[in-house]
Amino acid sequence: MSELAILGGSPVRSRPFPVWPQYLPADAQRLQQVLESRHWGGYPVPSRYCGEFASRFAELHGAKYGLCLANGTIALVAALQAAGIRFGDEVIVPAYTWDGTATAVLFAGGVPIFADVDPDTYCLDVESARKAITPRTKALLPVHLAMRFADMDALSDLAREHGLKLIEDCAHAHGGQYRGKGAGAIGDLGCFSFQESKLMTSGEGGMVITSDLKYFEHLQSQVNCGRASRTDEYQQRVLGANYRMTELQAALLIGQLDMLPELAAKRARAAQRLSKALSAIPGVRPLPPQPAITRDTIYNYVFQYRPERPGVVARDLFVAALDAEGIPSDGRFYEPVYRSDLFYATPENCPQLKTDYSGVKCAVSERAAYEEAVWLPQFLLIGEDRDVDDIAAAVAKVMGNFNDLASADPSLAGVKAMSRAERPNKERARNY
Ligand SMILES: Cc1ncc(COP(=O)(O)O)c(C=O)c1O
Repeated sequence: MSELAILGGSPVRSRPFPVWPQYLPADAQRLQQVLESRHWGGYPVPSRYCGEFASRFAELHGAKYGLCLANGTIALVAALQAAGIRFGDEVIVPAYTWDGTATAVLFAGGVPIFADVDPDTYCLDVESARKAITPRTKALLPVHLAMRFADMDALSDLAREHGLKLIEDCAHAHGGQYRGKGAGAIGDLGCFSFQESKLMTSGEGGMVITSDLKYFEHLQSQVNCGRASRTDEYQQRVLGANYRMTELQAALLIGQLDMLPELAAKRARAAQRLSKALSAIPGVRPLPPQPAITRDTIYNYVFQYRPERPGVVARDLFVAALDAEGIPSDGRFYEPVYRSDLFYATPENCPQLKTDYSGVKCAVSERAAYEEAVWLPQFLLIGEDRDVDDIAAAVAKVMGNFNDLASADPSLAGVKAMSRAERPNKERARNY
């Protein structure tokens, strides 16, 4: 019998990893306080905890203003609208991201144009973005994906050159810094998510940060059903809706912010240890370091599966084998959005689209999604050194028994080979 757990052997690890989300005793007190205040919603804007949290969060990232919203998708929609995106305007997005990056553009009336990602960071590739620019392009929407930043130097130049707005999707990048500047404070606007898997969470939630009062005023009015903003200097009257965050969510986020520095430092240290260990294992490759990152932010630890004999063992089977060794891991964490089962964007249901996306192909995104990328959730990195050593030992064990896997039934990849739409809810609940 093979040693591999997927083929009946004993797993490297049977102990659980740290749980996620984490919380503090003070969170319970703050929640109790909100409960007793009988003011649970988010009106007026900003309400007490929403205001306090937004100011502290903006300051951490070096932005002047922050505004809490209901979730990260809505944060992107609001930021796009504040940046002036109107019906039919094109916005360049990376193909390899969560569907919400692109659907937000559609909800704002715009047309998402997919560009490919860089093979070493999996973030928006600058040359691919440049080629996608047309006279209708109004904005670039890079995503700082998993544990890397988009090349913000080159993208800022590109945006300036073509008069485009630059909006950062920072759903994975809480607290991160690029050349000393906070995520979301490099471009015109930065958008965050506080959904349950994220580095800070209130179950659901979102944030937009900016240093431009004009955008901030627009956003405040927009999230609050069109009411005049708190500052009202520019007197912008916009069509708004209720996109507000509640006080219960914001009370939780205060504690999340208190915990962030320590958890981020743990993840950064563990990621370094893991990269060092993986560099010594043939057939896998850690993402190369990105010197422009001056403060790490690791939402998922991503490495590349690059076996010496490609095509013999599918990445999805490798991931299933790693998972069976007791290391929660995923390969199809994202698919290129234009191929995702969840992206129902056609000219019939999105009138701003003139064609569908059937002709789009981004080679690096497809390779990452279907052959190469391996995603490990961040909570694997907030425990002890031996947790990281177990991950490396499991990867080494699977690669060391490659021939057993090569002759195994490929269908053992099971749920790991399914798209997110096909996966049973239980599996998705664990990973996302
Ligand atoms: C890259 C990216 N953008 C946007 C979002 C949308 O955030 P939310 O789920 O809070 O709407 C997410 C989160 O799922 C994400 O990962």
